[in-house]
Amino acid sequence: MATSIDVFAKARQHERLEQLRTARELDALPYFHVLEGPTLPVVEMEGAARIMLGSNNYLGLTGDERVRDAAVDAVRRYGTGLTGSRFLNGTIDLHVELERELAEWMGTEDAIVFTTGHQANLGALGTILGPEDTVIADSGDHASIRDGILLSRAKLRPFKHGRLDLLEKRLQAAQGDGGGILVVVDGVYSMEGDVAPLPEIVELCGRYGARLMVDEAHAFGVLGARGAGACELFGLEDRVDLRMATFSKSLASCGGVIAGPAEVIEFLRISSRPFMFTASAVPAAVGATLAAVRICRSPDGRDLFAKVLDNARYLNRGLHALGFRVVEPVQLADGTEVVTPVVPVVVGDDWKAVFLWKALYEAGVFVNVAIHPAVSPGGALLRTSVMATHDHETLDRALAVFAQVKRAFESEHGPLPATA
Ligand SMILES: Cc1ncc(COP(=O)(O)O)c(C=O)c1O
Repeated sequence: MATSIDVFAKARQHERLEQLRTARELDALPYFHVLEGPTLPVVEMEGAARIMLGSNNYLGLTGDERVRDAAVDAVRRYGTGLTGSRFLNGTIDLHVELERELAEWMGTEDAIVFTTGHQANLGALGTILGPEDTVIADSGDHASIRDGILLSRAKLRPFKHGRLDLLEKRLQAAQGDGGGILVVVDGVYSMEGDVAPLPEIVELCGRYGARLMVDEAHAFGVLGARGAGACELFGLEDRVDLRMATFSKSLASCGGVIAGPAEVIEFLRISSRPFMFTASAVPAAVGATLAAVRICRSPDGRDLFAKVLDNARYLNRGLHALGFRVVEPVQLADGTEVVTPVVPVVVGDDWKAVFLWKALYEAGVFVNVAIHPAVSPGGALLRTSVMATHDHETLDRALAVFAQVKRAFESEHGPLPATA
């Protein structure tokens, strides 16, 4: 007898369908807007120039001539695609150089390059962990970490974002699970923009015999004197067991890396399914990444790291002064203030966030919207982010738009959450 259950039924019934329809009817869908040129501080988008405050191109390198030339050179030398896995016919000398230079930059024994950052997390977690192990993850960790954990079938013990007391409880409980323990955190959280308290986390992992992996996606090419990320910022590069980073943010390209001990990286090279069973990145992406890594490691890198963080501070303080509730910069134990390129504006209600996004978009500023489930229910925010190539004049223009939109928005929809 044929089943009456249609696996496509979900597509007609899923919980977001009504929301999606309403957003389309109101012409307020904040997703899939079309760029008509390169990601620069001001972009062409759907027939208008808009200030780009919604990109992860933190160092502005997608427009850098050296990076663009390296991508073009790679196409000339290797063609448009590699048509095979890294494992078989998809490794070129650019991969080998890139892995060597990334390991050097991150101060690890070795590094392995994946086609995307998502696959790097999947490939590391899905291979290193097994069903007998326990993984402890911050609830703010990126979706690719969750997906890697699902692939591994390890026992997941999540803890509420940033709650070290709960992390310790999970570490205590995991002692009885009978397998190895891995703690996974983001160095900088992608939506909230806050920095993980790595010194305390390293200490807890040491005390309970757990390994630690840090996803540096939003810290790589930004934090630390060498731009190597949050582990470098805290002086903990040799105390964190495994580090992941993507090329799709500061490095202006696409791809991902896992850096760590040689034996683990070698194991991934011959066992990681998301590494072995997918095509290698296109040569243009590898060439562009290598050029971006070299810029970061040159004296120009330091200027870019300083500029993006100066812009982040400028936008953060500007929005704060206008009365928006921004996520405040993190204060370290020694009193240093750490800003990151991610400057979230807390809105709370999902629909309010969408309407505020629309008002900004129509007034010429593009930002990203994070609503549930990307953030906790009632925690909707506008995720703004800056590039090293923004200047204060452009940020001032964006702030003037925020001020004008806030006035009009509040008179129609009521007050937005105020400065904390
Ligand atoms: C924290 C974090 N990890 C991993 C990824 C996945 O990287 P990619 O987009 O390069 O696949 C992202 C991307 O958004 C991220 O923000």
